[in-house]
Amino acid sequence: MTCKLLFVCLGNICRSPTAENIMNHLIEQASLTGSISCDSAGTASYHVGNPPDRRMSAAAVNKLGMELVGQARQLQPSDLKDFDLILAMDKANYQDILALDPTGKYRDKVHLMCEYCSKYSTQEVPDPYYGGTEGFNYVIDLLFDACSGLLASVKKS
Ligand code: 4NP
Repeated sequence: MTCKLLFVCLGNICRSPTAENIMNHLIEQASLTGSISCDSAGTASYHVGNPPDRRMSAAAVNKLGMELVGQARQLQPSDLKDFDLILAMDKANYQDILALDPTGKYRDKVHLMCEYCSKYSTQEVPDPYYGGTEGFNYVIDLLFDACSGLLASVKKS
């Protein structure tokens, strides 16, 4: 059975599409395409339909040689039912996801992405949108670490 992962941030143009693209790359490298699938969404609707932010894409090319692909969409209440694991980039995203599940039925599916980090001890992937290049580079490093741990965790489950 396919394990369905959903990465969630605020705008779905910086952090969550990066997580989705890195995760897809690691899944392909591990020959697990078909066993694990990935998508991403934003809690807000500001950027619906837009491609990943060009500063985020530039950081992905510079640090990983990877082109980011995607088109932003907003998180839907049905996503909580449809996905197996929902990964929030920060605590505000986490709360906004849980707000779509008032009865708490899907609560256990929702996790902070940084729970899967092994090289970093931070709890959140910080929003890079209003900052400079260093913030985007840091998002890449943090998400590469978290995605590696997430893949190991999903493989074990
Ligand atoms: P993301 O970054 O949540 O990682 O996609 C942001 C994108 C846009 C905005 C904030 C954060 N914004 O305020 O428009």
